[in-house]
Amino acid sequence: MKKLIALVLAFVLALGLVACGTATTEPTEQAAGEAKTYKVGVAIYQFDDNFMTLYRNELQSYFESLNNDTVKYDVTIVDGKNDMAEQTNQINNFITQGMDVIILNLVQTSSADAVIKSIVDAGIPLVLINREPLGDNGDESYAGILDNATVCYVGADARQSGTYQGEIIAELADHGDINGDGKVSYIMIEGDPENIDAQYRTEFSVKALVDAGIEVECLDDQIGNWAQAKGQEITANDLAQYGDQIEVVFCNNDAMALGAAAAITAAGRTVGEDIYLVGVDALDECVEMVQNGQMTGTVLNDHIGQSHAAVDVAVAALNGEPMDNYYWVDYVKVTK
Ligand code: BGC
Repeated sequence: MKKLIALVLAFVLALGLVACGTATTEPTEQAAGEAKTYKVGVAIYQFDDNFMTLYRNELQSYFESLNNDTVKYDVTIVDGKNDMAEQTNQINNFITQGMDVIILNLVQTSSADAVIKSIVDAGIPLVLINREPLGDNGDESYAGILDNATVCYVGADARQSGTYQGEIIAELADHGDINGDGKVSYIMIEGDPENIDAQYRTEFSVKALVDAGIEVECLDDQIGNWAQAKGQEITANDLAQYGDQIEVVFCNNDAMALGAAAAITAAGRTVGEDIYLVGVDALDECVEMVQNGQMTGTVLNDHIGQSHAAVDVAVAALNGEPMDNYYWVDYVKVTK
């Protein structure tokens, strides 16, 4: 009998502990002298992305640096695995868990409507990052839904990065025309085509050359989905098919440029001598390659500036301040 009472007591105690555990995660005012805890939900489109890994790690460490005796940020970061259905579930969980603010890197910007609406309806401030949602006609900023003091977009204007890529080539002594036939023959390796960064970088890199009065010829334009392996495969195939005709390899990001660089070396070509190669992001290894000539240039996609801006605006929202619709961070040209 004693044993039974002890068991029942232990059970009741355990229940109490579980209940207390739940209670402490509630975003309520804490007793005097204790820190107030905010629950922050961060949904990343895919952990397996070089640039977004830097971005996500910086988001986390910057939040950690803001913890102090009076306020704590309890940050949960989830991997959307490039699957919109998975991300929608994660967002629904964030809402059920009562997140105080959500930072969202959409898998599919075309699904922005529904996701944003559910977060707004739940009264949770939302900071969209890295993938700017577009309006219904797909060609202008998503002013409709952002016209709400609890939703904003923090990012960089991809037109600028594309323009810088084109300028890096236009500013070379031969303006990218290695074989002197009066035109720049290039291949383009694109990121996820639904992503405005991919669309603008593709368009504006070439536009910068044309605007500089340079004639261009597109030999091939393919989708590499931001991935290094695809960048390598596409470049290898194009080098086999077009050989010396290829003068410039434009990659929408550095991960694909890393793949392209490997294919260029494997084909016995030399960047800076018989071919040019540009990317975007300024990953550490690519900045090094620019320094030692293995890449012609890249463009800094400032993950530190963007992640800090996203956190700062999230914190301001937690303090009840209204948001602007857009917060822009500049790109920076990187050459030798
Ligand atoms: C970066 C890419 C990254 C993509 C993810 C872009 O801004 O340049 O490297 O893969 O964002 O959405």
